[in-house]
Amino acid sequence: MNVRLEIDGKEIVAEPGMTVLEAAGRYGIRIPTLCYHKALGPYGVCRLCIVEADGPGLDRMVTTSCNLKATEGMSVETASPRIVAFRKTILDLLLSATVFSHPLNELAKAAGIRRSSFGTEKTDKCILCGLCVRVCRDSIGADALRFETTGENRWRVAEKIRLLKERCIGCGACAAVCPVAAIRFEDTGPARNILVYGDVANTLDLVACSMCGTPYATQASIDSVMARIDCELRKGIKKLCPECSRIIYAGALAGGFPPDVSGPGR
Ligand code: SF4
Ligand code: FES
Repeated sequence: MNVRLEIDGKEIVAEPGMTVLEAAGRYGIRIPTLCYHKALGPYGVCRLCIVEADGPGLDRMVTTSCNLKATEGMSVETASPRIVAFRKTILDLLLSATVFSHPLNELAKAAGIRRSSFGTEKTDKCILCGLCVRVCRDSIGADALRFETTGENRWRVAEKIRLLKERCIGCGACAAVCPVAAIRFEDTGPARNILVYGDVANTLDLVACSMCGTPYATQASIDSVMARIDCELRKGIKKLCPECSRIIYAGALAGGFPPDVSGPGR
């Protein structure tokens, strides 16, 4: 059964199991996030999505909204004076844990922070949100990224991300979810470089599109996608770059097909 709650004075109807962040988003109420990605679900590490929640057992509790279930009768404030002040401190701390990164700096600027009052010793953009580690492990199944600590770190707190070359399939999912572009990939002709904190951490060969010949994906990433597709469907699939796939798809929708795709199907 749907639940009714109030967010910033607005009546909200949420589906069962929805979080406050999702319910707010559905009604155009924007709560800042960094470690949340809808494909991966909540993780609760950046703390930016905090709200003040009142209702049975809550007592104006300050809590993260990405993992807070919307419940009947709940009343939520996303930008109360307390939340604005806490969020500003969180942004200040996050800013001290990274060098310039556009999304974070924009959020800080909106909160009235020009530079961190804590200073920074970091030389990379990574905020250790874990999105790259999770997408690689949980969605792709390659498990090629790890949190790493140094020997001197007595609390064993993660300090950086390390890429295990032998496990990396070069799909680029980590770059797609990283909120601060601390992981990127660059295609240079027939090869793809995966850059972690600006340094090339892995280089993989790219396979050419069977229609236009442009190198577009690694063999291992194509294999990974194919392994998830039904055997029968797989037979008709050709190795096509995104642009040629779009042309084929548009042609099919228009009722005709562009020139024959002559490459080998799998
Ligand atoms: S590299 Fe990006 S996605 Fe990975 S932990 Fe750092 S900030 Fe998050
Ligand atoms: S988005 Fe909720 S803790 Fe990061």
